[in-house]
Order: sequence, then structure tokens, then C-alpha cells
Amino acid sequence: MRRNEFISVLGVSAATIFFAPFLAGCSKSSAGLGSGNPIDFTLHLTATANLALMNDGGSVVKNGVIVVRTSASSYVALAGTCTHQGGTLHYDSVVGRFVCSVHGANFSTSGSVLVGPATVALQKYNTTLTGTSLRVYS
Ligand code: FES
Repeated sequence: MRRNEFISVLGVSAATIFFAPFLAGCSKSSAGLGSGNPIDFTLHLTATANLALMNDGGSVVKNGVIVVRTSASSYVALAGTCTHQGGTLHYDSVVGRFVCSVHGANFSTSGSVLVGPATVALQKYNTTLTGTSLRVYS
């Protein structure tokens, strides 16, 4: 290996080592809150795991997203992680809200904050129903 080739390889290796922690840090910071991560999956409503979505108020959690049937042909999909400090959310069909199990924040079906301490809305995803297949995507 020639001297200039050695220096070139060394430079790329050093840059990779130097920047790797920063790149990993970026991916971790956005993963927890469901903000900006591409989402695209399909739920087959007749599958056993998704039967809850055959009834109004039923919900299913997949890939960090809570999918809820709000009426016969209407579904909403919101990030399942609280924007306050990352608590786990669940859908309370009695009150029609997403509720955090840690500090009790409440979110509407549009993702907006109804009760704090959270101050940032949840990420909302698109849903498209085709027959018995429900696509959830960002
Ligand atoms: S983590 Fe959800 S309200 Fe604090």
C-alpha cells in the first residue's frame, strides 16, 4: 500500500469512528417518541390478533402504534409512546382518549393533549381501509 493510499484509508476509518456515536444518538432520540420514523404496515382485520378492531372502541398495538376503531368505517392510529417522558399509552374506550400509564396525560383521537403534564401532541398516522385490510402509514 502506498503512503497516500494508507493516509486515505486511515482518514475514512477515523471519520467513521468519530461520527458513529453521533449517528447512533440521532436514531435513538427519535425512536422513543414515534416522531418522524417511517411507519407502513397492514393489519388484516380478520386475523385473530386484530379481532379487537372489528368493534367500535377496540384497539391493537403494533410497531409502537396504537390503532383504534372509532366507528364502523373509521380508524385512528397514534404513536403509543407518551410525549412527556416516554410512558406507555393505552386507549380508554370508555372516555375515548389515549391515556399515559406513568403520569396520567390524556390525548384525544387527533393526538392533541387534553390533560398534562404532556405538552406535545402525539404523532398521528394515516389509515386506509380496503376490504378487511387496514393500512397504517406515515
Ligand atoms: S410519561 Fe406520560 S405523562 Fe409523563
